[in-house]
Amino acid sequence: MSGLFLGKETATGSPFFLDAERPRVILVCGKRGAGKSHTAAVFVEEVCAVRRDDTVVVVDPMGSSHSLAFPAPPESLRGWNLKPSRFPVRVFVAGDPARAYGGEVLLRMREAGIEVLRLAVVPSEVAPELWCGLLRLGSDTAAGAILYRAVTSLREKKSAFELRDVRQAVFTDPLAVGEARMVVLSKLAAAEQWGVFSGPGPGGGQFESGKVNVVNLSIHEPGAGSLRELVVDVVVRRLFSVWAQKKRAWEFGLAQRVPRLWLVVDEAHQFVPGNADSLSREALVRWVKEGRQLNLGMVLVTQQPAAVSPEFLSQVDAVVAHRLTMRDDLEALEAISPVYLRERLDSTVVTLEKRGEAVVLDDEKEEARRVFVRPRRSGGVPTGRQEFRREGALTF
Ligand SMILES: Nc1ncnc2c1ncn2[C@@H]1O[C@H](COP(=O)(O)OP(=O)(O)OP(=O)(O)O)[C@@H](O)[C@H]1O
Ligand SMILES: [Mg+2]
Repeated sequence: MSGLFLGKETATGSPFFLDAERPRVILVCGKRGAGKSHTAAVFVEEVCAVRRDDTVVVVDPMGSSHSLAFPAPPESLRGWNLKPSRFPVRVFVAGDPARAYGGEVLLRMREAGIEVLRLAVVPSEVAPELWCGLLRLGSDTAAGAILYRAVTSLREKKSAFELRDVRQAVFTDPLAVGEARMVVLSKLAAAEQWGVFSGPGPGGGQFESGKVNVVNLSIHEPGAGSLRELVVDVVVRRLFSVWAQKKRAWEFGLAQRVPRLWLVVDEAHQFVPGNADSLSREALVRWVKEGRQLNLGMVLVTQQPAAVSPEFLSQVDAVVAHRLTMRDDLEALEAISPVYLRERLDSTVVTLEKRGEAVVLDDEKEEARRVFVRPRRSGGVPTGRQEFRREGALTF
């Protein structure tokens, strides 16, 4: 098996393949604009092209991954013996897609063959401490304690419940009194307005193999305790538990195999920060620590390896390092590199000059290679975009 065609070795011009035979944890890092998201998109294109049974889920804080549905301009691939291609994209948004994108953009996306589905968060799948984090109520405050108690008691009684059940539990809690009770109720009312909790439309939605499943987070504000983090937590936990079921089915002879799933997380420092709280931290750390047994791999992309939790980074077994210049980022990279490669890595990563150039470290092969990442086969613009501009449909 030849692996994923990532690009050409700078020294020899020979093709470079990344081994994807195992569920790996791959770090793509580099300073702003160095080509990280491009490299992650190349990885996704390769998995779709050569590992068709694998499932790909992209956590997309920038909201740009739908460009995988549009072929690259042929001139950008000149000299690479690659054809422009489009990849089937299914985008998930938490809440109502029409509200997230606007009706006209949604229509154009669907006309361009992009599936857009609602991803509903079911209140019962959110842990009590996450509820407190999300509604900014410290679990050691009176209001936080009321919320924590309401969610915990519902979880004990029911396997699934809605936001109105949480409100009801607060209403009927004899210990919930005074101002704290009002604070919780008004925060729950505000959460209902976000439009992401259950409600009409299909529930969980389906993450399908053979498609690029994109979770578009760009419609939610970033930040600690944000909806972005909640959505990542929910998606990661859901996938983990579905894959655990697949593994059990396989163990008992009910399935031929457990398919491979690649979770690609761009701007990973937002979701597993080293020095701040995050609602998605626990689920992502579990993924990299225990996921390999379930055939779950990950590609984590960051411009600041030093800002990512060291516990998370320690699970990385391959690195694609674009140009990095900050001392603490280089140190974070050194900390996860094999000793015999450290010196070489340090001196090479600062000398990478061209956008798209990277040093690839592979734990398995125990080697470091300087590689020029190939151009993308997708990433062009949708046809009809000119028309969009004329109509002004994208000016908001
Ligand atoms: N290997 C490459 N071949 C051709 N173009 C590339 C390559 N790598 C990056 N580019 C182009 O360079 C620009 C910046 O790349 P990209 O957005 O991937 O950078 P980034 O590191 O993700 O930036 P940011 O830190 O802002 O997220 C894009 O226009 C991209 O198409
Ligand atoms: Mg990027």
